[in-house]
Amino acid sequence: MEQDRRQQLEELLKQVRSSGVPVPAHIGIIMDGNGRWAKQRGYSRIRGHQTGARNVKTIVRFADKQLGVRYISLYAFSIENWARPSFEVSALMRLIRTYIVHERNELHAENVQFRLVGRREGLAPEILEEARRSTELMAKNTGLTLNLCINYGGRAEIVDAVRRIAAAGMPPEKIDERTIANQLYAPDVPDPDLIIRTSGEMRLSNFLLWQSAYSELYITDILWPDFDELELLKAVTAYQCRERRFGKTGEQLVKKGPA
Ligand code: FPP
Repeated sequence: MEQDRRQQLEELLKQVRSSGVPVPAHIGIIMDGNGRWAKQRGYSRIRGHQTGARNVKTIVRFADKQLGVRYISLYAFSIENWARPSFEVSALMRLIRTYIVHERNELHAENVQFRLVGRREGLAPEILEEARRSTELMAKNTGLTLNLCINYGGRAEIVDAVRRIAAAGMPPEKIDERTIANQLYAPDVPDPDLIIRTSGEMRLSNFLLWQSAYSELYITDILWPDFDELELLKAVTAYQCRERRFGKTGEQLVKKGPA
């Protein structure tokens, strides 16, 4: 069984690398299904989140080292998640803090860059401080950028951007898409090429609303703790088969290429 999986993995990896279509430079992931994964096994929801948190390393490392992905944005805690039972919120916050602290040196050794993406107000000072330390430590790294989206909401991000623009006294006629994009939480990060959602729900749930305008969406029934390297390769293979038209016709793309 394990040998079959390895073989399938190697074949898909070869296919992805030789397809002639670049791998997505930026992948966003809505890591859904930890609760259902736990329930199916009679475990607590928290154990589902713990297993989901462990999976992050596997996927980030594979995307970086095997696929050459440049950015990964992980939806770890949405603004709406504060409405969950308080013990679950506390457990998630502990997990996130532990992840930031425990993975710091290894991520740094792997040349990864780290960003916390989300609304700062409302997050505990320890989390902000640990995230700041990681970002600072890894600032000169040149490998994959890991954007950990915490206390993140796409609408809140747009509201925060508009507030900054209004506070700067920008005349309305001077505001264009670039003005808003420049005020988002991570303005230097390119829009995601691919957004993956695990556990089968067909929605964005307020994730990267501005940036996902032309992202390809890939939704799988696999629950996040079960989403492994092979599942990531399936998502990238599906992406490579899509025709990204950015509003143009298919004929225009054949003639001129997507730019
Ligand atoms: C959705 O599953 C998942 C979350 C709300 C949190 C995602 C968090 C992690 C994967 C762990 C923390 C991450 C890091 C990087 C430390 P759900 O609880 O909504 O699942 P359900 O829909 O099956 O109930």
